[in-house]
Amino acid sequence: MPKLRVQSFSISLDGYGAGPNQDVDNPLGLGGGALHEWAFATQMFKHMHGSAGGVTGIDNDFVARGFSNIGAWIIGRNMFGPIRGEWPDDKWKGWWGDNPPYHVPVFVLTNHWRQPITMAGGTSFHFISDGIHAALKGAMEAANGRDVRLGGGIATIRQYLVAGLIDEIHLAISPTLLGSGEHLFFGLDAAALGYRCSEHAPTANATHVVLTRQT
Ligand SMILES: NC(=O)c1ccc[n+]([C@@H]2O[C@H](COP(=O)([O-])OP(=O)(O)OC[C@H]3O[C@@H](n4cnc5c(N)ncnc54)[C@H](OP(=O)(O)O)[C@@H]3O)[C@@H](O)[C@H]2O)c1
Repeated sequence: MPKLRVQSFSISLDGYGAGPNQDVDNPLGLGGGALHEWAFATQMFKHMHGSAGGVTGIDNDFVARGFSNIGAWIIGRNMFGPIRGEWPDDKWKGWWGDNPPYHVPVFVLTNHWRQPITMAGGTSFHFISDGIHAALKGAMEAANGRDVRLGGGIATIRQYLVAGLIDEIHLAISPTLLGSGEHLFFGLDAAALGYRCSEHAPTANATHVVLTRQT
């Protein structure tokens, strides 16, 4: 059965997945860039962004796993961009330029529907305003037997968690404190929701944890 997977989702030691005050200059919120330093250093990340070098090993393997057997993504509107409320026009097409790193259909949850966008390299953005189940159905159909990656952000993952729809969550706990921002688990009981730690691996830059939902 195809799975719904969270991969390479970085959190701080105090549990935040984004810093406060997200805006066009701070897509990850203030201080949020520190969450991803483990990934930025990897060979896979550098290769995806047209650079040579980078570390191999556990961090790199986890980044690679996040793109293996993925046929579609689901993301929240805040991960797609900094615009809130009504779209002023159709100019914003995501943070990632003309050829985003997805290369498969991406379903964007939003209360403000707009026409789908076709990008270079196989990526398309589809705006879904009738809820998380509709987004999952569309993504699973588009993935055609492969898994769906739930990219984030935090509000989006929390909804799928509460609904018991995520099969596997890979978290990279980064050695930094944010103090405020968007908290992944606040008020949620992941154990009661059926999640157990199925894998953990420390590196110099992060502690990797995989949570698997018991069925
Ligand atoms: N730590 C990591 O690894 C990681 C990974 C990905 C992203 N991030 C970061 O996470 C932050 C974004 O997370 P976030 O929690 O602020 O927001 P988010 O989950 O990306 O998006 C939330 C927004 O999506 C729309 N939405 C979500 N669920 C919906 C539903 N069921 N129906 C209709 N619309 C829905 C709403 O937007 P509207 O009402 O405005 O349409 C909502 O305000 C960014 O800073 C991003 O860079 C971090």
